[in-house]
Amino acid sequence: MSFDADWLALREPADRGARSIPLLRGAVDWLRRAGAPVVVDLGCGTGAARRAFGAEARAARWRLVDRDPALLERAVRDAGARGEGHLLDLGDIEALPLGGATLVTCSALLDLMPRDWLEAFADRLAAEGLGFHGALSYDGRMNWSPGVAPGEAEILAAFNGHQLRDKGLGPALGPQGAAILAELLRARGFVARMARSDWLLHPRDAALQRELAKGVARAAEECGCPGAEDWLQARLAAIAGGISSAVVGHVDLLALPEGSSAQSKITSVSSP
Ligand SMILES: C[S@@+](CC[C@H](N)C(=O)[O-])C[C@H]1O[C@@H](n2cnc3c(N)ncnc32)[C@H](O)[C@@H]1O
Repeated sequence: MSFDADWLALREPADRGARSIPLLRGAVDWLRRAGAPVVVDLGCGTGAARRAFGAEARAARWRLVDRDPALLERAVRDAGARGEGHLLDLGDIEALPLGGATLVTCSALLDLMPRDWLEAFADRLAAEGLGFHGALSYDGRMNWSPGVAPGEAEILAAFNGHQLRDKGLGPALGPQGAAILAELLRARGFVARMARSDWLLHPRDAALQRELAKGVARAAEECGCPGAEDWLQARLAAIAGGISSAVVGHVDLLALPEGSSAQSKITSVSSP
């Protein structure tokens, strides 16, 4: 599965507006505990996560990890002297450059991962005593308005079914990915908090709505759902008419080793 730089650029403003600020602040507080913090961004794409952290965190050293050389090259160029690129597949957990790091972050990634990967990853985070911040995992909620076709619920159900397919490392957990990682980390002594980071797409976000709708229809079609093309045409007409809105459910996760001073600051953040 590959990710297009144009798609990542299109979604970046919506992602940035959706991120949970309390959890982002919690991650920055965790970074402050280290004299020379190092952040590892897994599946960095063009580096959107680094750009979304404030100036203070951007001054940390960033290890940028992706298997796509073109995306990684852009992320490294954007990070300048503070960034180093690691071209590798996340499937090799032992090869992840986590040694001596302070925080591991990722965005729009946990929903692609299978359970055995999350288990092995949680083991490594626990063994290294690292903080973790995972933003923008799709959680299965998607509501378009106004409704445009009687079959819309089936289309969205097929899309959610497609989320569970193999995205490169085995059958993905899709909408359950972030919640399952939270449980795995709690079982390893982390304090984990989740917060919603939904996309709220308005009629003015027509370009993002269009590409999202095309992706939903493509996935539904691949799952053999009849009516995907009709739904797409109806949805595109509503978008072109300036009357379409959408809410796409995401969650952020911040998990810190129990007993750390930064951990106590996140206990007041509400769960979704
Ligand atoms: C949805 S994109 C998110 C990119 C970026 N984090 C963002 O928020 O814009 C997922 C990223 O994970 C990378 N990725 C997916 N599976 C991977 C794997 N097995 N190994 C390394 N990178 C992977 C893709 O190349 C892509 O850049």
